[in-house]
Amino acid sequence: MTRILHISDLHFGAEDPALTDALLETAARLKPDVTAAAGDFTQYGRRREFAAAAAFFDALPGPVVAAPGNHDTPYLDVFARAVRPWRRFEAALGGAMTPGWRGSGAGVEALHTARGLQARLDWSLGRARTSHVRDAARRLSDVDGVRVVACHHPLIAPGGSRGRARTAGGERGAALLAEGGVDLVLTGHLHQVFALPLERADGRTSWFVGAGTALSRRVRGEPAGFNVIDVEDEAAVMRVYEARGARFEPAGERTLSFRGEETRP
Ligand SMILES: [Fe+2]
Repeated sequence: MTRILHISDLHFGAEDPALTDALLETAARLKPDVTAAAGDFTQYGRRREFAAAAAFFDALPGPVVAAPGNHDTPYLDVFARAVRPWRRFEAALGGAMTPGWRGSGAGVEALHTARGLQARLDWSLGRARTSHVRDAARRLSDVDGVRVVACHHPLIAPGGSRGRARTAGGERGAALLAEGGVDLVLTGHLHQVFALPLERADGRTSWFVGAGTALSRRVRGEPAGFNVIDVEDEAAVMRVYEARGARFEPAGERTLSFRGEETRP
């Protein structure tokens, strides 16, 4: 069994310090093998916010695979966003733009879906470039077990490709990852917990999973929270933790079968 801590949208700079401590305490107790961190670690991409995020990652048990979000570029500096959008992210979080992790039963890679600028009005939306998607699946091809991708923006979302879920190339990227043998895609950005299946030609099912915002109480209708995902070859058990006061407590559990029976009639 591989235990993955799936956290997202930490938003250091707007975080609740009590929740920061609570998450570290919970993580120390749960002892994840790896943390998949799905972006928006800072609020405005400031150096001190990145320093806080780096200290937090250091304090987590085990390694962290981190994919940047749209808040992880200098938010208020259009020039920096255009010229060197990820310099602070790389400096603070260890050049982790394309990190990877391998365990005995699973492997995790990051996929980059955020842009400092892009040719549409809302540059905070995601963009899944086909070459990046294919590369993430290819990098996982050595994994003899469950293949996991962490990225910030949802590739598919519960309400379809609308609003903040308008990730360019998202649906195509989801299909490419599924056909490329990726079993789990762990995302953030929407501050919404979900798990959506996608059936594959090889008879397995891939799952696209969203996490809440980990440390911020300024949330969109859902409490702060995160997911703990216990992965085995045939299924993963996803436990949702939610903030209650200054603690995180289990708030629900769902089995995500990779065998396809949940999605077949
Ligand atoms: Fe975001």
